[in-house]
Amino acid sequence: MPPDVKLPIILVNFKAYAEATGENAIKLAEMAEGVSSETGVCVGVAPQFVDIPIIARKFNVPVFAQHIDPISFGSYTGYVLPESIKQAGAVGSLLNHSERKLSLNDISVAIGRAREVDLISVVCSESVAASAVLAAFKPNMIAIEPPELIGTGMSVSKTKPEIITSAIKTIKRINPEVSVLCGAGITSGSDVLAAMKLGVEGILVSSGVVKAKDPYKVMLEFAEAMLKVKS
Ligand code: G3P
Repeated sequence: MPPDVKLPIILVNFKAYAEATGENAIKLAEMAEGVSSETGVCVGVAPQFVDIPIIARKFNVPVFAQHIDPISFGSYTGYVLPESIKQAGAVGSLLNHSERKLSLNDISVAIGRAREVDLISVVCSESVAASAVLAAFKPNMIAIEPPELIGTGMSVSKTKPEIITSAIKTIKRINPEVSVLCGAGITSGSDVLAAMKLGVEGILVSSGVVKAKDPYKVMLEFAEAMLKVKS
């Protein structure tokens, strides 16, 4: 049985960084598991597709794909089939990341496919307006990520807090069942604390963890920041 996804969640996107591929992906996932068992905070990982099975087998952390395609079994060469992702041991998938964008129709179909195969859909959104459209597609989570802040180390929670508050308001008005995460430029516990105080239910992070000198320490700092707001 794959581990449960609980909120608040720290979701670490491994992207295609060398520091998070193959053996390095395994080390990072082990650290995520360590932080999760030390703090009780849910730490999910989104590795490269081929790293999903080994990570899902070895570690007690929820594993997400970075993308799925809006397809079913059939003649689709080079596509990412939702059923394969599920069978590989993932519990969910990112969708429409700003580095892997999809048309609105494809997002809507992919969310439906995720639901059919029991994968949690985490749809990325670049703006408040986009969040309103995406919320109506009934994903499990929306991660609001202004693309211009991705990888900058300037956090969305401190640089553009108003985007987070108005995205939360908009999304919850349209569909209160959707959990709201935020991401882009998050590197410190204080970024996470600021985000949590704005009302998010988790964060989506990449370089702040993957490229850190000590990823364990950074994830621990993030988890401790979440616990401060939770308690
Ligand atoms: O998917 C998360 C990502 O786009 C945020 O990137 O490097 O700013 O944490 P980063």
